[in-house]
Amino acid sequence: MDYLIAPECIACDGFILRSYRPGDGGLLSEAVNDSYEHLAPLMPWAKPQQSVEESEKLVREFRARYLLAEDFVIGIFNTDQTRLLGGTGFHLREGPLATKSAEIGMFIRKSEAGKGLGTEALKAMLTWGFDAWPWIRLAWICDSRNKASIRTAEKAGMEKEGLRRGQAAEVGDGRRDTVLFGALRDNWAE
Ligand SMILES: CC(C)(COP(=O)(O)OP(=O)(O)OC[C@H]1O[C@@H](n2cnc3c(N)ncnc32)[C@H](O)[C@@H]1OP(=O)(O)O)[C@@H](O)C(=O)NCCC(=O)NCCS
Repeated sequence: MDYLIAPECIACDGFILRSYRPGDGGLLSEAVNDSYEHLAPLMPWAKPQQSVEESEKLVREFRARYLLAEDFVIGIFNTDQTRLLGGTGFHLREGPLATKSAEIGMFIRKSEAGKGLGTEALKAMLTWGFDAWPWIRLAWICDSRNKASIRTAEKAGMEKEGLRRGQAAEVGDGRRDTVLFGALRDNWAE
């Protein structure tokens, strides 16, 4: 398998998961600017004041790579799609598409964090990922200091697989321990 006609969208309880589209730049810019301080310590891509133009270029890149089956960046929108609540995606960080393995990434915008959305969005990504996508294995990787991320994976039902120690931190010059979580299609239904 070297190409995938990827699922586009799923409506969940209280939010919609879908590929970004041209025109979503304003919503992305607003969500990340609202969340800079919340994201900056953890997310290497966070920038202060990301303009609408920069965000529009990003969403077009996300869309292009989605259509090419290179990377699957997904927005978490409110139900009428007037607000971006966060972002997620299936990323080919464990090997090419043929491995049927992907890593789920996620951010929830600051004003929506801590209300249960991250857990629900991760559960939805796992269920959708195993039902409608070809994934056999899905991973979730977090800095051991990121208690919210660890707890989100646990609450969504992922299994802790181990700890990689002393890796170069993604943000800053320090080192970090990385907690590894995974889920497998064969036992997800249970
Ligand atoms: C990690 C993240 C996606 C979780 O989403 P969320 O909507 O805030 O998570 P939830 O509200 O579903 O909470 C899940 C659990 O984390 C806990 N939690 C949330 N924020 C926390 C914090 N700052 N410190 C410790 N625990 C926290 C919650 O209390 C809850 O556990 P509990 O039910 O046992 O109390 C979100 O906080 C985020 O975007 N963080 C910044 C980016 C990031 O770290 N992404 C993950 C990279 S792997």
